[in-house]
Amino acid sequence: MKKLVTLLLALTLVLGVFAFAGCGNDDAATDSDVTDVADDVVEDATDDVADDEMTEEDSSDGGVDIGIVLPTKEEPRWVQDEARFLAAIENTNYNVEVLFSQGDSAKEKQNVETLIAKGIDVLIITPQDGDAAAAAVQAAKEEGITVISYDRLVTNTEAVDYYITFNSVNVGEAQGQYLIDQVEDGTTGNSLYLYAGAATDNNAFLFFEGAWNKLQPKIADGTFDVMNSSKAVEYKDKATLTREEMGEIIEQVTTDWKPEVALSKAQSHITSAPPTGKTYILAPNDGTARSIYDQFAKEEGVEIFITGQDAEIPSIQYVIDGKQSMTVLKDVRDLVNGAILTATEVLEGNEIKTNGEYDNGAVAVPAIDVPVITVTQDNVSDTIIGSGYYDSSEFTGL
Ligand code: BGC
Repeated sequence: MKKLVTLLLALTLVLGVFAFAGCGNDDAATDSDVTDVADDVVEDATDDVADDEMTEEDSSDGGVDIGIVLPTKEEPRWVQDEARFLAAIENTNYNVEVLFSQGDSAKEKQNVETLIAKGIDVLIITPQDGDAAAAAVQAAKEEGITVISYDRLVTNTEAVDYYITFNSVNVGEAQGQYLIDQVEDGTTGNSLYLYAGAATDNNAFLFFEGAWNKLQPKIADGTFDVMNSSKAVEYKDKATLTREEMGEIIEQVTTDWKPEVALSKAQSHITSAPPTGKTYILAPNDGTARSIYDQFAKEEGVEIFITGQDAEIPSIQYVIDGKQSMTVLKDVRDLVNGAILTATEVLEGNEIKTNGEYDNGAVAVPAIDVPVITVTQDNVSDTIIGSGYYDSSEFTGL
């Protein structure tokens, strides 16, 4: 049974990897690398099924095998990851425990220590703060535990074995491209407000880098006027920013991933640079997008184009209602399957296939990169309902 589940996980992941191959990712593996990885994963999983009788003895010893640490229950994104993890491991023979850090690195460290004491062999962790989590994963590594960074990279430590992630640069590129596509050809001086995630999250940099890749030429040629970041204006002619330069912009426009911070920043930006007419807003994720949208929508005569990511249920409703313009679907089922497949392969002593690599400041971490999909009012039925991601009963006005 365990092997059958492994095969199903492998096939699901491979579908994701194939979709990724069609996505034209510039930064990670080439299409043929990706296809090779996909082929290998299928082959291995099939071999596993053939070997079934020989490996049945490697089931759980009753302790916790895989420990999962997620950043917070306060955002629907991570609650969904937990639910999808629990669904994915239901039919395996392994014991899994999920703990939440509630936005606190000290609690995160404590969670990792609790799981180490329970005898885990694999740790799957989404750090609250990439740098701060280094001590926790080092403690796990010292106990011989395999560490998988999940969605967010643990930074500046060698104690990370694998990274399972969506392609975050592609997320930012999808957001930037969406805004560009909404601009009437040949117009200049379109108001652009920039917002970013938390500077403690490596992903915030990757999302911003992707968005900047697309938006920068349109800021440089005057299509957009950045309304709320003097640093973005200062660097408008630089196609590629250093991490430090990006950090300076992010510092000015960070939401810290908190809707309430996004709200107060939006209020002060509206006061200092009031929006009029068509207004373009780079919002880093759904929680902050809804918050920023609600503030800007209070202004008379503005037409808002605003991005997001995560395909959270309330944001899908906003997209259906024509409020939030787009979100990026990061199919958590694929990420969870990738992480559980990797964890079970580790537990069974099999070779791990990866299709990318991310520099975490100390080491190049082998990665599995999962593709993302842009969701708008036009394709929401197909991408969200048709794909079985959510049930239509969650929404009105479809
Ligand atoms: C994740 C996003 C999420 C954000 C805030 C990022 O690291 O990739 O999906 O919206 O954190 O939790």
